[in-house]
Amino acid sequence: MPGRATSDEQPNLILAGFMGTGKSALGRQLAHRWQRPFLDTDDLVEKLAGASVADIFAEQGEEHFRALERKVIEELIPPAGAIIACGGGLVVPAGMAELVRSKGVVITLFASVDTIIRRTANKSRRPLLKGDEPEVKIRELMKKREQAYMKAGIAVYTDGRSLQQLCVIVGRVYQREVAQLKKASTKPKAKAE
Ligand code: S3P
Repeated sequence: MPGRATSDEQPNLILAGFMGTGKSALGRQLAHRWQRPFLDTDDLVEKLAGASVADIFAEQGEEHFRALERKVIEELIPPAGAIIACGGGLVVPAGMAELVRSKGVVITLFASVDTIIRRTANKSRRPLLKGDEPEVKIRELMKKREQAYMKAGIAVYTDGRSLQQLCVIVGRVYQREVAQLKKASTKPKAKAE
């Protein structure tokens, strides 16, 4: 099981992806299984701002919210050992995918629009989906963001997979990435002529 022994030295596992793809549910479950701390960037943003996601959007706007998300990633997440669920739009602004990737192994969760509609019925922390026709908004945002999600991390499709199955799949991908990182860091450097 990844992370059991020396979780401090294990890279963070960072879950990105659209709203309703299951980042928080999976992150919590993995944290429980691997005995690691779980962090949710929406919680950290709310703590930092002393206000709810909904109030930040309503009073200061989306741009301010994105700046807070950036600060959370730059300053508030631990360097290693944690499992982190990102807010759905966090990896989208220019430079954010790279920043997030510099903080750990990033896996992007994907789900079909139908699944997302079902899972985002609670809109209290999702002001971007409020109002009429959330499905239209979801499709529009998804189209705009798809490239950013692909660029941010390794894609894992969640439809038709149970939380247990996803734990196994994501665990394998994570272990493979950690092994590659280790290999790359122990490779002797090429001699300069
Ligand atoms: C957002 C997703 C939300 C939250 C905010 C903005 C987005 O997080 O950060 O409402 O832009 O996709 P979840 O993905 O956890 O719902």
